[in-house]
Amino acid sequence: AVLTGHLAPQLSGLERAGALAGSAILARRSTVATSQEGGAVVPDTVQVEYRARTGIHSRADYERMYRHSVDDPAGFWGDIAAGFVWERRWAPDHFSYNLDLQSGRVSTRIFAGGRTNIAFNCLDRHVEAGRGSQPCFLWEGNDVGQERKMTYGEVLQEVCRVANWLKSVGVRKGDAVAIYLPLICELPIAMLACTRLGAVHSVVFAGFSADSLAQRCIDCRSRVIITASGGMRGSKRVELKQIVDAAAKVAAEKGHKIHKALVVEHPAAPRGKCPWARGRDVWYGDAVPAQQATCQVEWVDAEDPLFLLYTSGSTGNPKGVVHSTGGYMVGAATTAKYCFDLQPGDVYWCTADCGWITGHTYLAYGPLLNAATNVIYEGVPLHPQPDRMWQIVEKCKVRTLYTAPTLIRALEAQGDTWVKKHDRSSLRVLGSVGEPINPRAWRWLFEVVGERRCPVIDTWWQTETGTVMISPLPGAWPESPGSATLPFFGVVPVLVNDKGKELHGATEGILCIKQTWPAAIRTIKGDHKRFEQTYFSTFKGLYFTGDGCRRDDRGYYTITGRVDDVINVSGHRVGTAEVEAALAAHGACVEAAVVGVEHKIKGQGIYAYVALAQDEEPSEATRKSLIAAVRQHIGAFAAPDVIHWAPGLPKTRSGKIMRRILRKIAVNADSELGDVSTLADPSVVQAIISMRVTQL
Ligand code: PRX
Repeated sequence: AVLTGHLAPQLSGLERAGALAGSAILARRSTVATSQEGGAVVPDTVQVEYRARTGIHSRADYERMYRHSVDDPAGFWGDIAAGFVWERRWAPDHFSYNLDLQSGRVSTRIFAGGRTNIAFNCLDRHVEAGRGSQPCFLWEGNDVGQERKMTYGEVLQEVCRVANWLKSVGVRKGDAVAIYLPLICELPIAMLACTRLGAVHSVVFAGFSADSLAQRCIDCRSRVIITASGGMRGSKRVELKQIVDAAAKVAAEKGHKIHKALVVEHPAAPRGKCPWARGRDVWYGDAVPAQQATCQVEWVDAEDPLFLLYTSGSTGNPKGVVHSTGGYMVGAATTAKYCFDLQPGDVYWCTADCGWITGHTYLAYGPLLNAATNVIYEGVPLHPQPDRMWQIVEKCKVRTLYTAPTLIRALEAQGDTWVKKHDRSSLRVLGSVGEPINPRAWRWLFEVVGERRCPVIDTWWQTETGTVMISPLPGAWPESPGSATLPFFGVVPVLVNDKGKELHGATEGILCIKQTWPAAIRTIKGDHKRFEQTYFSTFKGLYFTGDGCRRDDRGYYTITGRVDDVINVSGHRVGTAEVEAALAAHGACVEAAVVGVEHKIKGQGIYAYVALAQDEEPSEATRKSLIAAVRQHIGAFAAPDVIHWAPGLPKTRSGKIMRRILRKIAVNADSELGDVSTLADPSVVQAIISMRVTQL
């Protein structure tokens, strides 16, 4: 194969220019500190370091690069892509898209005509460049003292072995493989093994129930699943294998057979204690080490699908978001590099699980594409004590910590002593993602955790966007607590009113994206119409994000939260319709409506109104069993925080549930209910209020 980019210099022309300019700035070191809104000040040393590493000296530099990226996306991304290994280079007119439903099929094509392999770029490329003995994964187990180090060379070999096993059971390019694993090294390894073969992985977060897992396997027709005998989260055992068995049963009843399950033996559930389906189940420890440690990569087209990830929306079943290979690769690497100032060999820790998009892009692909050393932590942040995270930061000398507001709030609630017990002088960049970060949590992260030394990178993005879309760059411009600030290269955000009219200047509106970007969602598995309807039918020619947003006179974007019926619980997206369906499937429930309410730690909690069948009593036992039904249908993270018994639900005459009213009742804002006269039965409102329960 001809590897066009193979011998290309690591730095593209653009970056080389930047790096030179960076050293010039280093020479005339500025002494002016960046002023932060609210008194926080990032010392200029951070800026100087970042400038030296990326070549961005100021907002003006950023503006120049940004302009280039949106005016000439083909050239901009092409320059960067040249630093990767391609078997075949993309065509000159590789960048094309249509976001306007009325002009035909909605589509994005980037690096069209090019052929590459992302696993090769994550591993082989670095090993060939002499990084084989550099640590790739620093794994910390649930319990203190459990650890594992894997170098780039070792990870490459293990990925090849798993890929060879996948081949041996018939997995081929384009096949979907389900992955249902705890956060152990085998999780990113399994992802990369699929990728190496051009197979499409579908990682299902190990907190999802058997029903959810089955639904996902059926939807993407995955016949092979990679799982573990069990797992530990804090002091709780997770019966992973039993869930897989139950899921396989549910799938079989619906006509979908799981042929093979590759099972990693987890100390929480050793052999002998693990249920086993002979013929289907294979121990990882028996099958994988026997495989060859090399495996030819399958070169794939840039637009071939890389992975599927299911996510919730306001209606219907979870959607299988499809990401493609080339654009995602370049987007993941570039955002990780610029947003987190990531350089080869840096110790980097993203606390997300690979079951969510953050774990895909910023635990697996982004850092590996940048040859970083990745910390992976299997357990929960407060186990066995509230200083576990800080202990890991100290032990591994973490430079970049990328985490979520819900975690930051939970850690803050434990008090500063736990943090201060540990040396955090290695930290340079702190990142946040998943939900709006409240200024208080932002300041705690900045002042206490980062000792006012580390910029806080509040990154806004989504499963569908694949990579960070709006985010500060470390020290490049003044930050503002709670604001994601400015768009990343190639991203053109617009704010519109509810009629779709574009709003200019400092204003508030619905956030949409104009133009496409490399890691954009390409389709929904098996349902391109649904893809077009969900994201491109609300406003003509624009990608609809579902988020509300404010823009100030500095051009900074601040996300205000979802404008649709999606609830963000601890940074996890939960669709109201799914929770309602799970409740309604319970025999005691006639009808249910779910709304999000503010929650001190989780950001949003789930508040469910349940109308009971006539012969049912609103008892504690019924409440518990309704919550259990949601756990069973979706997973524990979607369990309602409050069940509010309702004699009926407020509906319009056409039968639409008025969630606006339910949201107000949930927060005791009875005086703000507004006009209820349009309801089919206005008396239901008072009846619901009279049955109010204790708040969260
Ligand atoms: O509402 C926004 C919120 O999370 C949603 C996307 O959820 P998901 O697809 O699960 O991806 C989460 C991780 C990328 C968004 O529509 N969100 C994400 N990041 C932020 C955020 N809200 C405010 N600020 C953020 N930084």
